[in-house]
Amino acid sequence: MNQIFVTNPKGGCGKTTIATHLASHYSNNGAKVLLVDHDAQKSSSDWYDCRPKKYLSMKLIASSVNTPVSTKGADVVIHDMPAAWTLEHVEEILHSDDKILIPVLSSPTDIKAALRFIMALNRSGILEQGIKVGLVANKVKSNTSYHQIQQSFLERMDFPVVGSLRDTQNYIKTMDKGLTVFDFPISKVKNDLSQWQPILNWLNAIG
Ligand SMILES: Nc1ncnc2c1ncn2[C@@H]1O[C@H](COP(=O)(O)OP(=O)(O)OP(=O)(O)O)[C@@H](O)[C@H]1O
Ligand SMILES: [Mg+2]
Repeated sequence: MNQIFVTNPKGGCGKTTIATHLASHYSNNGAKVLLVDHDAQKSSSDWYDCRPKKYLSMKLIASSVNTPVSTKGADVVIHDMPAAWTLEHVEEILHSDDKILIPVLSSPTDIKAALRFIMALNRSGILEQGIKVGLVANKVKSNTSYHQIQQSFLERMDFPVVGSLRDTQNYIKTMDKGLTVFDFPISKVKNDLSQWQPILNWLNAIG
């Protein structure tokens, strides 16, 4: 069983967007997916409730961070972590071979918050268990100076930059309808699907 935690204590950086996208990608490919919504705001739950019934079913559990959830029967478990989670109970929640994805936006405030979280993750000792961490640049506007800052910050971290997702209304529109770009024909969302491929490759490569 494959566990992916999407986390960064900074609000609005794209945790739910990434968690719901991974859930729909794996589910559309026939995996038994459990999406765990750890956030009291319930954004993943809202997305799940709107998801059209014609798509292959997945399971969603809403649960606080420190309440254990049963993952029995799931091939892939995706955890949408809450904003402001600063690794409380991390030893009980994460185990060896789990993966962490950290979405990071380009503003200086977001970069400072991400840096503090990455330092806390390093200090926690949890990574010694073999947990893999990947960084995702999100809401990328490639023609801005802040994008350069975002890229050079991410490249200086000890963890790989596993993908970059552009800033596009596609993510806002799909979230509202319980959909993701993985639910559309390739021809309609080619640019976005190609940006997801390196993220999926990294997740698949590390098992
Ligand atoms: N690449 C993107 N391009 C445009 N909009 C995006 C992108 N990624 C996320 N968004 C939008 O930004 C907002 C915040 O994203 P999201 O809810 O995924 O962040 P979050 O980290 O889960 O927030 P919170 O910390 O409140 O849980 C949402 O409206 C979402 O649709
Ligand atoms: Mg969220």
